[in-house]
This record gives sequence, structure tokens and C-alpha cells, in this order.
Amino acid sequence: MITDEHKKIYKSKVEAIKKVSASSYFIEIDCGFPVEVKAGQFISIYCDGLTLRRPFSVYSNNNGKIGVLFKERGQGTKYIKSLKENDFIDIMGPVGNGFNIKNKKALLIGAGIGVAPISFLKTKLDEQKIENTFIAGFLNKQEIPNGINADIFCTDDGSYGKEGNVLTGTEKIIEQYKPDIIYACGPLIVLKQVAQIGEKYNIETQIAMEKVMACGIGVCRGCVIDIKKDGKIVNATVCKDGPVFLGSEVVWQ
Ligand SMILES: Cc1cc2nc3c(=O)[nH]c(=O)nc-3n(C[C@H](O)[C@H](O)[C@H](O)COP(=O)(O)OP(=O)(O)OC[C@H]3O[C@@H](n4cnc5c(N)ncnc54)[C@H](O)[C@@H]3O)c2cc1C
Ligand code: FES
Repeated sequence: MITDEHKKIYKSKVEAIKKVSASSYFIEIDCGFPVEVKAGQFISIYCDGLTLRRPFSVYSNNNGKIGVLFKERGQGTKYIKSLKENDFIDIMGPVGNGFNIKNKKALLIGAGIGVAPISFLKTKLDEQKIENTFIAGFLNKQEIPNGINADIFCTDDGSYGKEGNVLTGTEKIIEQYKPDIIYACGPLIVLKQVAQIGEKYNIETQIAMEKVMACGIGVCRGCVIDIKKDGKIVNATVCKDGPVFLGSEVVWQ
């Protein structure tokens, strides 16, 4: 089946690539023309010789120059890390639904590499003059990528900002700051707790999920999760129906 997403494959060029923390890299990809991207959408990168494209959240978009923040994990990210300025790179996207930005006082929560889409979202909220506070959490100071636009930093070992994980003290912040909406991205355990906090305080939560993906365009159904819809439990694909879901609709394991 040919979908619209199939048509969004660009042979692009690496504009810049650099190490930005102890274990993460920033790559900027020039699509050659302006591209509209919503915060929370992602691109899938073809990694030389590997059958499956690898998905990465969009971290920045400068008139069609798309930035991605990534950590080296396996063969695909090793290949991306090896690219040099002016190398060609094959990307598909932007795909996925993205965050549904609302004109509401927002608390933004990003953990680890999950800061990428949240940082991009903050840029968009600031452009639209929507009040927001962004809390970013990392293992330690060395893991904080240069240029993260967070308002509050937390590190597990206390080497920078507040000591503790990104959710330590979040309830206190909610009680003082009184956000009307929470947007989050990070490990599943963090997202589950964000959803629970949202339910406790009766605040809408939008969370960007990650799931290992194959096609990345809603065809193979390899990335389904259970969600609640109209009193029933149904399947949803993280790549096409998501990656952003309401915390309250996800069936947490
Ligand atoms: C919507 C979405 C957005 C993402 N955004 C980012 C991002 O902004 N920056 C970033 O560094 N990573 C992001 N990821 C994770 C990224 O896709 C994986 O790190 C990457 O595919 C690993 O490829 P690899 O070939 O290097 O590793 P592999 O050899 O394929 O795998 C190495 C390890 O990574 C895990 N892994 C593989 N694919 C995924 C996946 N899709 N999600 C989670 N873990 C995976 C494997 O379980 C394994 O433990 C995102 C994933 C999704 C689904
Ligand atoms: S990865 Fe194929 S449907 Fe999501």
C-alpha cells in the first residue's frame, strides 16, 4: 500500500554533525527546501545496509534543516555517527501525529534523550507566547547535551541542577506552578508516572511514546500498544496514531 508517508522520502545532505554530551550527538540534515514539522513528529533514517529505517524525534527545524539528537546504541546509530558534513542521508518524514499544542500554561518534562522533542516543543510554545516551564532530567552533568533550553535541570547524582530524577519534586512544582497541561517524553517508566500524576491532579497529559519500529508508517503493525477508546480497549500504532498519546488513554502494563 502506498501512503502519503512513502512520498516523503528525501535524499538530503548532512549540514552538520557533532558530539554534544558524553554520549549524544547532534546531526542537522538539510532537506533542500522548507519542511513543516510539528513538535513530537519524527523522521526515519535509512542506515546504510540495514533493512529497517531508524526513527528519531525532530529536535529542531530551521527552514528545512532538521536537527536530531541521538545516542549511539547499535549498528544504525553507529552509522549515523560516522557521517560527515555534506554526506548524503536518506530520511523519511516527518511522520507521526506530534503534540496537540494547546493555549494552556504548560509543564514540559523530558528525561534523557527524551528531551529532544520536548526541547523542540518549548521552542514552539515560546514562539506562540504560551507560558511554560521545562524540566529536564539526566543521569549526570556529562550527559546534558549542549544547548538544551530547559528551565530546571535535574541529575540523578546531583552533579548539576537539582539532585534526583526528573520526577523528584514534580508534584511540588505542580502544586506551586499549577500547570493546565503536561507534555512529556522519556523512558516508559517516567511516562507512566507522568500519566498517574496527571490523573491525580486532573491535568491533561500528552506523552510521546517510543516503541521499536519496523515500517514506521502504520503498515506492519509491529509497534501497536493498547489504548482505551469509547470504553473499549483497542490497538493503536505508535508510528502513525502516535507517537503522542494522552496519558489517560494508554493501557499501562
Ligand atoms: C518515535 C521514536 C522517536 C525516537 N527518538 C529518538 C531520539 O530523538 N534520539 C535517540 O537517540 N533515539 C530515539 N529513538 C530510539 C531510536 O530509534 C533507537 O535508539 C535506534 O533505532 C537504535 O538503532 P540502532 O540500529 O543503533 O540500534 P539497534 O541495534 O537497532 O538496537 C540497539 C538497542 O536500541 C534499542 N532500540 C532499537 N530501536 C528502538 C526504538 N525504536 N525505540 C527504543 N529503543 C530501540 C534496542 O532494543 C536495543 O537495545 C526514538 C524511537 C522512536 C520510536
Ligand atoms: S512500525 Fe509498522 S505499523 Fe508501526
